[in-house]
Amino acid sequence: MKRSLISIQDFSVEELQELIDTANDIIARPEAYSECCRGRKLATLFFEPSTRTRLSFEAAMLELGGSVLGFSEAQSSSAAKGESVADTAKVISCYADIIAIRHPKEGAPLVAAMNATIPVINAGDGGHNHPTQTLADLLTIHREKGRLSHLTVGVCGDLKFGRTVHSLIAALSRYEDVRFVLISPEELKLPSYVKKELLRERGIPYTQTTDLEAVMPELDILYMTRVQRERFFNEEDYLRLKDSYILTPDKLANARDDLCIMHPLPRVNEISVTIDDDPRACYFKQVLYGKYMRMALILKLLKESGSL
Ligand code: NCD
Repeated sequence: MKRSLISIQDFSVEELQELIDTANDIIARPEAYSECCRGRKLATLFFEPSTRTRLSFEAAMLELGGSVLGFSEAQSSSAAKGESVADTAKVISCYADIIAIRHPKEGAPLVAAMNATIPVINAGDGGHNHPTQTLADLLTIHREKGRLSHLTVGVCGDLKFGRTVHSLIAALSRYEDVRFVLISPEELKLPSYVKKELLRERGIPYTQTTDLEAVMPELDILYMTRVQRERFFNEEDYLRLKDSYILTPDKLANARDDLCIMHPLPRVNEISVTIDDDPRACYFKQVLYGKYMRMALILKLLKESGSL
């Protein structure tokens, strides 16, 4: 099996730092990278809607001098005819050098990686993981705070279905002195398997609350998330929970001056647009940093698979 990125834990802390260093170098000297992937192809297989992630991967590959092919909805692929993910992965391996796949089923990118002969990147699998969003998040925190350790990280919203949160906790829990404040409605608490495997078993300190304002003064990072409508079994529950947390300027009254406000986007209602001009708002920087981290990731995986 080629080196792939399915879960953020597939990479060591040293490798994450190597990606951050490469991304920072790309930001400083983009021209040095503009021909690195000439003649190489990235296939984007998106079985679920996406704006940022797919276009970010495409922009990343184009800025490395490579090309992209793929599809952006399951209906326009052979999945609509009943083709398995395993077969699709084998087929695409004949056309491209690397795959980025998003799928509504948890585990589908792993199946793709087990069957492809080229590296596979998980671009989001159901309510499970989203490791490349975490790469964007890590670069953002590193650039804003100058460190990934000694942080109190508040994650707020849909912690049950929010795959970005699961991957972020998996990554940050490996750094020294990181503490989590889990802020969600009762029904959308972090799944117990995540709490057990990533926090309790490793002795990582965390607290759970429903009250965002009460914990605001403690936070170095506030990571807001959207309530994941598409993963609810009934619309009534979604409507009841969707506006559980709306960050408005008055709620920031007790926040630190150096708070870093993050959101993987798309935003629905969770952050008032009046906060966008606050210097603490980092969510559009996250988008930009995501592209640089995906460039660094594509380079690393292509090098390790012998394609570069
Ligand atoms: C996230 C996702 O797809 O999980 N979006 C993204 O890739 N930035 C977050 C979300 O959809 O809420």
